[in-house]
Amino acid sequence: MEQLAKKTIDQIEKVFDIPSGYRRAHARGKSYKAKFTATGSAEQFTIASHFQKGETRAFVRFSHFSPDPMWTDAMSPVKGMAVQFHLSDGRTTNIVGVTSPIFFAKTPEIFSEMIGVVKSFKKGKPNLKELGSLLMDYPESGAMIKNIRKMQAPSSFTTGQYHAIHVFYFINQQGQRQPIKYVWEPETVATLSPLDVVKLPIGSFEADLEDRMAEGSVNFRLDVILGQPNDPTDDPTVEWPQDRERLTIGSLTLTEEAAEIDKIVFDPTCVTQGIECSEDRILNFRHHAYQISHQRRMLES
Ligand code: HEM
Repeated sequence: MEQLAKKTIDQIEKVFDIPSGYRRAHARGKSYKAKFTATGSAEQFTIASHFQKGETRAFVRFSHFSPDPMWTDAMSPVKGMAVQFHLSDGRTTNIVGVTSPIFFAKTPEIFSEMIGVVKSFKKGKPNLKELGSLLMDYPESGAMIKNIRKMQAPSSFTTGQYHAIHVFYFINQQGQRQPIKYVWEPETVATLSPLDVVKLPIGSFEADLEDRMAEGSVNFRLDVILGQPNDPTDDPTVEWPQDRERLTIGSLTLTEEAAEIDKIVFDPTCVTQGIECSEDRILNFRHHAYQISHQRRMLES
């Protein structure tokens, strides 16, 4: 996996303009300190300490998905929200979400093949013909196109629904395993039409976040979707049926800006006692890809 991760990061560097010191994906973003308050409703499913009723300190980074930080906000319709919880025993654990309920590649090999086909996304100009032929070759990736309405850019970082996409297992006191998916829900969901988003100057999402923080608080709810037997746990290209039960397990309030977060890596496989990663190969591959990106950008800065 590590070799393939290195090859994939090399491929991303070849295809995109990535200035020295930047993340190899989600390069441009803005970071805050935050406070997470658990409702206690997850206690029956997990012994994870930050999900027992009470407060935990956290860091949050919002981002535009492009590896090129100079792409406009419109060119990166998928936005990211990465949260790192600071647990009372000094350890950390992460939830990394994007404004799409599914990912376009089922396996690391397919992801790498797809990136390999793309000749260049430099200067922010993807080749539409190349993209079209990719979707013909990888039909499961077409699900993202069918889902395009759900992938419209939010009108602000604060109005997006952020899905962690992969399945995780909650483990309770009795050792029972419950498959779950995380979703960060904003106070108000609002999207922008592709025409409106094109008019936005670069950095307008970050400026909007500053304005909203100056006006008052920014909050998100953390929901988990509870999986049922036979719901797929290893495939990030499919959603679970819409009627699955949802539970609100906490809320997050941003407190103040925290530029220092640029140094940390939000590895989605960094879990804690009471939570396990699923067998999803993309999830486990991300551990290696993020470490390599982190090592390279730290050496450069
Ligand atoms: C093959 C699959 C993937 C690869 C190779 C990949 C690669 C990367 C890399 C290299 C970074 C920068 C890491 C760093 O330097 O700290 C990153 C960041 C990020 N990725 Fe992925 N990614 C993949 C899938 C996903 C998926 C499925 C999601 C959806 C939840 C996602 C969401 C994010 C977010 C939100 C960030 C920014 C985190 C931050 O703010 O530091 N990625 N990705």
